[in-house]
Amino acid sequence: MLSYVHDFHAGSFADVHKHAVLSIVHAYLNRKPKPMALVDLYAGSGRYQLNTYAAQKTGESHRGIERVWPPESWPSELADYARCVRAENADQLKAYPGSPALLKSLARPIDRLIFNELHPKAQEKLVALYDRDRQVKLYSRDAHEALVALVPPTEKRGLILLDPSYEQKEEYNQLMEGVLKAFKRWRTGIFIVWYPLLPSNAHRAMVDGIVRGVDCETFVSEIRVPTDGTGMHGSGMLVLNPTWNLASTMKTLTPWFAQLGGEAGQAVMNNRLNAAPATKGSD
Ligand SMILES: C[S@@+](CC[C@H](N)C(=O)[O-])C[C@H]1O[C@@H](n2cnc3c(N)ncnc32)[C@H](O)[C@@H]1O
Repeated sequence: MLSYVHDFHAGSFADVHKHAVLSIVHAYLNRKPKPMALVDLYAGSGRYQLNTYAAQKTGESHRGIERVWPPESWPSELADYARCVRAENADQLKAYPGSPALLKSLARPIDRLIFNELHPKAQEKLVALYDRDRQVKLYSRDAHEALVALVPPTEKRGLILLDPSYEQKEEYNQLMEGVLKAFKRWRTGIFIVWYPLLPSNAHRAMVDGIVRGVDCETFVSEIRVPTDGTGMHGSGMLVLNPTWNLASTMKTLTPWFAQLGGEAGQAVMNNRLNAAPATKGSD
């Protein structure tokens, strides 16, 4: 059952958090001239119009990208992300790039893009955008299966974004098991997992299980926004093999992310870098 449609959530504070982290990780990887693979297994539709019925119904972009608009005001660490958001919008904010559009704008000609999406309507939009693009390989597979089947990419260098809709409770556990299996096959890959912060704390066992189950450094970034206490109150990102710049850059950007709280108060960000097991406890 796939009832989640990202058109209702595009440009939310969670998208801003997720896409900022993605672009910061990418900027560091991009410093080396070797080719890389940029894999997005829950790709969505690619890009989104913000004046649609779906986007206006939830108004999530008002509490996300709109709060940090315009991109010219963003810190230099977010220059790539800013450029991509600007490229979607001539003057006023009307559209928002999803992760495929962001990754496509970041990729160099030597890099390869792998986008996977199971929902037929979202997949149709991805096909319209990228089917003729020789740099992009499109799949319409169940991401739980694709996660293990498609890694490691031939390049061995690169990142994989895992951004499920968590429609079913079991997805947390399924994703944890999939990441642990896939990581054994691609130990040098940078795995980036997004998760929602909900009153149930449904994410906690998954995040703890992955952090405990891998033998690499991990980084966790969580943002909490002021809410009425019901529904999603924050966004989390778990990164395996974080790039060297990630923790320090996220710290520098704390005041920028705080703006995502809006008039009700600042968004609060917590970041945690966990050492690889061999060195855990050594400080
Ligand atoms: C949160 S949205 C992705 C948003 C996108 N990554 C972005 O940042 O623009 C999650 C997407 O995953 C898709 N999806 C959900 N379960 C899936 C599965 N098992 N396999 C592949 N795609 C799935 C949904 O249809 C939805 O489009």
